[in-house]
This record gives sequence, C-alpha cells and structure tokens, in this order.
Amino acid sequence: MTRGRFITLEGIEGVGKTTNIEFLRELLEQKGIDVLVTREPGGTPLAEDVREVLLETRDESMGPITESLLIFAARSQHVSTVIQPALNAGRWVLCDRYTDATYAYQGGGRGVALETLERLAEFAQGSLWPDLTIYLDAPVDQALARIANRQPDRFETEDSEFFARVRDRYLAIVESEERVVLIDAMQSIKEVRLRLVSAITEFLET
Ligand code: TMP
Repeated sequence: MTRGRFITLEGIEGVGKTTNIEFLRELLEQKGIDVLVTREPGGTPLAEDVREVLLETRDESMGPITESLLIFAARSQHVSTVIQPALNAGRWVLCDRYTDATYAYQGGGRGVALETLERLAEFAQGSLWPDLTIYLDAPVDQALARIANRQPDRFETEDSEFFARVRDRYLAIVESEERVVLIDAMQSIKEVRLRLVSAITEFLET
C-alpha cells in the first residue's frame, strides 16, 4: 500500500482558507483521489475540545507556552488517531493549518523561541511534515478587513502588529521550505483557483 500524501493550507485570517479548502477537496476528488479533509487545532473530538479552549476569550489570560502546549497536545492526538492512520491506509490528507501555523502564530506572533517549538514538534508529531503546503498570502490590513464583521475569537482580537509578525514568519517559512507554495490571495477567486490547480498539477507530477 502506498502511503497517502499530506497537504496543508495556511495563511492569516481573512485570506479565504475555508472556501479554498473546499475547492481543493473537489479538485482532488475529481482526480480520483480519496481525500480526508480535516483541521487544526481540532480534527478529533478531544482535539476539537482543546480548540474551544484555545479560541474562547476568558478573563484569565493564556501564556504563550500554555498555548503552545495545548496546540501540540491537540496535534499529537490528531496525528496519531486521524492523520497518520489515514496516510498509512493510502488516503490523502488535506489539513487546514498544521505546524507552520504554530511557528507563525506562537513563534512569530507570541515570540516563543523557534528551538522550543521545534522540540515540541518533534515530540508531538515525530517526523510527520506535509508533502505540500499552500500558503495564501495577503497584506494584513486587507485580510483583516475581510473578517471585520465577524465575532472575533481569542486570536482575532489581536492587533495588526501581531498579524504582521505572523505573516512575516509565514513568509520566512516560504523562503526556507521548498514544500511551500505561495499564492497571492488578493487576486480574483478565479485567479486563485487557477494557481491552486497548477500547484496541485505540478505536485501530482512529482
Ligand atoms: P481558524 O482555523 O479558524 O483559522 O482558527 C484557528 C486559530 O488558531 C487561528 O487564529 C490560528 C490559531 N492557531 C495557532 O495559533 N497555532 C496553530 O498551530 C494553529 C493550528 C492555529
């Protein structure tokens, strides 16, 4: 049995991950690929509970290390009970966010040292990294303007400087990791979709 392939979608809030992940699912299914779509933090009942703790706003503030540990706890559960078994069974996995998000939000945004996050990543996920990551990019102000009307979760209450640090870290990951493809999310939906199709087509040829 050939191991399935692991694809992740990344970007700051407001870049259109939700609609584009559905498009990617359809694209892969049209190509006859059996794909499991999931998300982080979350993807299992327990990890979804951890997601709620992470996203809700409360009086007690959450420290950056607590936040990082909760994210990796959810990831460990998700990887071991959902992602890895699916890949082992030959299914493809399409995940809305993964460890690049931790490096960007907890590393770039919150200032947790990269070495700390790398150690936690190894502990929680072993050597499981995506085969392909699509990063949807947009300037912070324009991305945040797109979510201005929704009820903000704990991350969405952060200021634009926080998101600028997150975006900068994502852009640094794009520079250093060959598996990551950047797509300009400010293009029309049609253009974004054309880029997604070419990223997947190229990936299928490798
Ligand atoms: P979203 O899935 O609706 O974008 O929301 C999840 C939030 O969790 C988002 O604000 C980013 C944040 N997050 C992290 O801070 N670190 C992580 O590793 C992941 C997966 C998400």
